[in-house]
Amino acid sequence: MSNVIKISKVIKPFKQSIKIEGDKSLSIRWALIASQAKGKSISHNLLKSEDVISTLNCLKKLGIKIKLKKDKCEIFGNGLNGFNFKKKIILDAGNSGTLARLLPGLLVHSKQKIIIKGDKSLSKRDFKRITKPLQKFGANFKTNNGKLPMIVEGTKFPKPIKYIEKKGSAQCKSSVMFAALNTQGITEIKAKKSRNHSELLFKYLNLPIHIKKIKDHDLIKIKGKKKIRPFNFKIPSDISSSAFFIVLTILTKKSNLVIKSVNINPTRIGILEILKKMGVKINIKNIKILNGEKIGNLHINSNQTLKPINCPSKLNTAAIDEFLLIFLLAAKAKGVSKFNNLAELNQKESPRLKWGSRLLNKIGIRNTLTKNSIKIYGNPNLFLKKKIVIKNFLKDHRVFMTSVVAALTFGGDWKIHDKDSIKTSFPSFLKKIKSLGAEIT
Ligand code: S3P
Repeated sequence: MSNVIKISKVIKPFKQSIKIEGDKSLSIRWALIASQAKGKSISHNLLKSEDVISTLNCLKKLGIKIKLKKDKCEIFGNGLNGFNFKKKIILDAGNSGTLARLLPGLLVHSKQKIIIKGDKSLSKRDFKRITKPLQKFGANFKTNNGKLPMIVEGTKFPKPIKYIEKKGSAQCKSSVMFAALNTQGITEIKAKKSRNHSELLFKYLNLPIHIKKIKDHDLIKIKGKKKIRPFNFKIPSDISSSAFFIVLTILTKKSNLVIKSVNINPTRIGILEILKKMGVKINIKNIKILNGEKIGNLHINSNQTLKPINCPSKLNTAAIDEFLLIFLLAAKAKGVSKFNNLAELNQKESPRLKWGSRLLNKIGIRNTLTKNSIKIYGNPNLFLKKKIVIKNFLKDHRVFMTSVVAALTFGGDWKIHDKDSIKTSFPSFLKKIKSLGAEIT
């Protein structure tokens, strides 16, 4: 079957209600923490994407029994540091940065050498950001110049550390938090604000965590070696996957969409705040707390008059995975939009800041790119007639899905390669988008 899709018609107006797959960050965190509990934990609505399957496969190799069923997933944890494997094993993290950066946190106490590898995209990414703090616990890491593959060798007596996280990376923060679980004593983290799923999960499990909020940082203290009880978890829908449908609806005439039970954790909804500043209000109804996480139904309407934005950098981390889509909105806005301090975007599955600029060039939108910023000269009348080919983007799922949204709203004759990339985070993406009436061959 071809891995290239073709789109040559914009999507017709639609009015529907849909459900999006489970949140990726939460699915991976649930599985990793359940592996440290003693007994059977169950999750519902776990995202069954390649990143999550890689997580389950790594845990199985570490001796954890897992049953993945149609409607639920069961993990039979062996308690803290309860991984059980014989000799030097190789764990394949596939495309998942979250898995490859969080799992080593659970291995600082491990008895044997473990190799962690990843696919081509993951092997280009930086791992010094986690090996540096994790080494301070006493574990030993060998990397390929700061990149994968890496060899992890735990220590018998991990020591608690003090760590300052400056990038606003939830992966770095969580990696150290996970290491703290297996470490006697109090680990202290001063972290620039970023998604706080690990913190909420620790609180939900009654683990000894103390958080003090100061301006744009959090001071986190974790006391290690507390037994983790097995726990059941219902995973809400992923706001980052929902974002493709939010932007599609905004950019399509006379349409509206309801997306149910979406995780609206305030550290994840930067896109909604940016949209508000661009003149688009998304209504959120039926707000509830589910397993410590905030969820709600999103009600989205078309909007043809977008304001440009000078995006406040304080919104960057809460919108970090949505910038390619936000750049599409800026392309349609009336005026010039500016986005600063976005160097981290080039550290993702592909150099996404560069890819944002490339996509805009392809659709004829003037933009100025630097190492950490982009200025976008929007055109509200943007309508394309030319041929556009999108390929060689390191199979970055978000580049693929953003291109589909652009093709369905801006016109033109598109060929988009590497359809399989959606399996990383959102396997049903094309099926869902076709169910709204999109013509894709
Ligand atoms: C994630 C954190 C973010 C995000 C990634 C998932 C997580 O990465 O981009 O998709 O689940 O912790 P960084 O920690 O590198 O910012």
